[in-house]
Amino acid sequence: VSQADHFFWTLAERTTGMSPSVIRETLKLSQREGIVSFAGGLPSPKTFPIDALREACIAVFRESGHAALQYDASEGFGPLRELVAAALPWRVQPEQVIITSGSQQALDLIAKVLLDPGAEIVVERPTYLGALQTFTLFQPAVLSVGGGVDGVDVDELRQKGSGARFIYALPSFQNPTGRTMNEAGRTALCNVAADIGLPVIEDDPYGDLWFETPPPSPLAARNPDGCIYVGSFSKILAPGLRLGFLVAPKALQAKLLQAKQAADLHTPGFNQRLVSRLMADGFFSTHIPSIRSLYKVQRDAMLGALEKEMQGLDVHWSRPGGGMFVWMRLPTNLTAEALLPLAVSEGVAFVPGAPFYSELADHRTLRLSYVTPTPQEIALGVTALARAIRATVVTNSQ
Ligand SMILES: Cc1ncc(COP(=O)(O)O)c(C=O)c1O
Repeated sequence: VSQADHFFWTLAERTTGMSPSVIRETLKLSQREGIVSFAGGLPSPKTFPIDALREACIAVFRESGHAALQYDASEGFGPLRELVAAALPWRVQPEQVIITSGSQQALDLIAKVLLDPGAEIVVERPTYLGALQTFTLFQPAVLSVGGGVDGVDVDELRQKGSGARFIYALPSFQNPTGRTMNEAGRTALCNVAADIGLPVIEDDPYGDLWFETPPPSPLAARNPDGCIYVGSFSKILAPGLRLGFLVAPKALQAKLLQAKQAADLHTPGFNQRLVSRLMADGFFSTHIPSIRSLYKVQRDAMLGALEKEMQGLDVHWSRPGGGMFVWMRLPTNLTAEALLPLAVSEGVAFVPGAPFYSELADHRTLRLSYVTPTPQEIALGVTALARAIRATVVTNSQ
């Protein structure tokens, strides 16, 4: 209870689980001048197609300005739902698609419809921090399952998933680790989920951003009745448009739609019409490959610099085949939290890994985003990071 003047504000019980985002705090640090930041989770602004969007804006105003500025359907703009359904690699009816205000809202609607206080859910260890923040508001008991490149630990999943409301999984170029579940791992996850009747929430904002080979097909393609698939235009177009979507089995449509209505009535119709135009014109068939090429150069710069600078240090890192992140593990006795101030004083920032764990946090982990700094800045940043790690190794051994 907090007191302001003569009013008493009684906070809802659910707010006790809310905490300031560590990432936002770190971002503040990294915005200081002269710091190379690997901390942000933001897409590169170089990929934002300003000219194509300007032209699409003019066309939307000219052709359907009044409709675009009017209240719209809660489920989304019909042609966009059709285009999204048609673009997915398994059979999806347009009626199964709800257009959301970013995929973050899709996660919120799913949590609203499926969670009660104390209900169990399963997440990967580690997982996307923003999903943990959303789910926490609905006060579930969050269980976690470990795993590696091949998927989640199926024995742990079988044990923890029985009776849970769902497993939340990011099979492709995961935020924060960059890892992708292989074919066998996806099949195993879906088999266990089907076996124990565990619904799957699949979050897939990075699946299109592959560098060498596309990831295996989505979990939802294997198990459409037991899965809600969540997609986003943030990483393949622009996050500022706040456009995402979910694809849900028909049995859940009505409740999800009512939750969407209650949340914000509908996603901005103007933005939906912009994206519909771009999709219908085939814009993404050239735009997405251009993002892949850019991010591949960035990823190569990051991996090359790490190979060169981390020599002789007991440091390990992931080699992502797509997406935006490298995940690093520091030497014994060095936590990412302890390293961060030293790294910032050397001129580089990153996000410590611990907040991405719902439990059993590994404090030696950290996340490096490679998409925004230039290759030259990446080289400087990694050199600074290696200097900071070496300084602690020397101190520890003294
Ligand atoms: C895994 C994951 N899911 C969801 C989101 C939310 O994205 P948006 O709401 O912009 O679609 C992000 C953003 O970084 C993310 O990394």
